[in-house]
Amino acid sequence: MSKKRQLRLGAIIQGPSGNMSAWRHPDAVADASINVEFVQALAKKAEQAKFDFLFVADGLYITEQSIPHFLNRFEPITLLSALSLVTKKIGLVGTLSTSYSEPFTVARQFASLDHLSGGRAGWNVVTSPLEGSAKNFSRDKHPEHDERYRIASEYLQVTKGLWDSWEKDAFVRNKESGQFFDRDKLHTLNHHGKYYSVQGPLNVGRSPQGRPIVFQAGASEQGKAFAAEAADAIYTRQETPELAREFLQDVKRQLVEKGRDADDIRVFQGTSVIIGDSVEDAEGKYQQTAQLVTVDKALEYLGRYFEHYDFSQHELDAPFPEIGDLGQNSFRSTTDEIKRNAKARGLTLRQAALEAATPRPSFLGTAQDVADGFEHWFTSGATDGFIVRGGTPTAFDDFIEQVIPILQQRGLYRTEYEGNTLRENLGLREPENQFARNQAKTQEKVTA
Ligand SMILES: Cc1cc2nc3c(=O)[nH]c(=O)nc-3n(C[C@H](O)[C@H](O)[C@H](O)COP(=O)(O)O)c2cc1C
Repeated sequence: MSKKRQLRLGAIIQGPSGNMSAWRHPDAVADASINVEFVQALAKKAEQAKFDFLFVADGLYITEQSIPHFLNRFEPITLLSALSLVTKKIGLVGTLSTSYSEPFTVARQFASLDHLSGGRAGWNVVTSPLEGSAKNFSRDKHPEHDERYRIASEYLQVTKGLWDSWEKDAFVRNKESGQFFDRDKLHTLNHHGKYYSVQGPLNVGRSPQGRPIVFQAGASEQGKAFAAEAADAIYTRQETPELAREFLQDVKRQLVEKGRDADDIRVFQGTSVIIGDSVEDAEGKYQQTAQLVTVDKALEYLGRYFEHYDFSQHELDAPFPEIGDLGQNSFRSTTDEIKRNAKARGLTLRQAALEAATPRPSFLGTAQDVADGFEHWFTSGATDGFIVRGGTPTAFDDFIEQVIPILQQRGLYRTEYEGNTLRENLGLREPENQFARNQAKTQEKVTA
């Protein structure tokens, strides 16, 4: 009997979770964003619950108006390196920007994390939405949206080339003969492109899972095209299963157009959950968390998506203001959606800001309700899985204790890890080494 397709889950590490003001919640660990014991405990819980991976988002620019979690948090690679030593199976996915880093350093960092963790590293590739990031990296100007994706595309070619520097069995370490490595299994990239010149080879051997898993987060047309070209997984967010299915099918279609297999990518919906003894109980928990955010803080939160725009200059209870193209060069897909939603539903600025600060979880209700929702999205082909965030500081624990067992009973979710690497657990095939493949082709030609 063939095995039923399995739902896949990631767990967000994001301070006390909930919303920007959840650190004030009576159940919150107020310094969770920079508390290593808290994060270790979360990682272990997620691993016991057989989550595919932990996921750490990131950003490169703050102001006094940034949300508390952004003001004082762990850098993803160092955090995941620490977590690699207290976990065994769970994947470790960290966000790093292609607009403000160098491919050699980043290829090395993720390859190193992959070795540290026995093949569990994942890189969430982002292009950095915030214009202010330029000011922290000695740049005059933040690259514009489409150029950021062109840079990212070349960046990924370079990174993948560097990850192929060594074949799997290149290091022979023969004590007798003194041969440390096999010269034929070392490949020097020699990349010269529009944005990067990188010689190589990389000073880390081939990753235990072939190469680290590449995630992409960004849902604009350019973001999708980039994912279809270069990513193994996508982190995205759509409002309804219908929109999510459209998104997933579009991405898979683009994959096939680019000569890849439709099954070469996993799509994850980012979602928050709140579980209660009844729908009313869950609603009460949502309201308790939502009420921690003042309107002023919500306006600041909204402003960040729009290049730190000052929304307080507008009338709070008038319809959402007309702000033109603002947001196109930062969080394009997110700001498009905020504007569309406000218009479609006739929201006032106050309503739009409060909703943005504490989005109503797509899955709110009893454990059965939440499991039903996950099952529906999954079995109707809207998504391959979810990246889960607690909608209150204790909701993630509730999800593990109450919802995971239901998903397991329904045969939708694993009770044991399938393998040791993130790639194995996501059911993705191991990539060939592009240089070994080319060599094999050349040899074929010679003998033909
Ligand atoms: C679901 C989702 C999650 C994202 N997470 C991050 C993140 O953690 N850090 C970051 O710099 N950008 C993040 N982004 C932004 C994008 O990666 C990108 O930098 C920018 O917003 C352009 O994306 P777009 O293709 O949606 O316009 C995220 C975007 C989406 C849609």
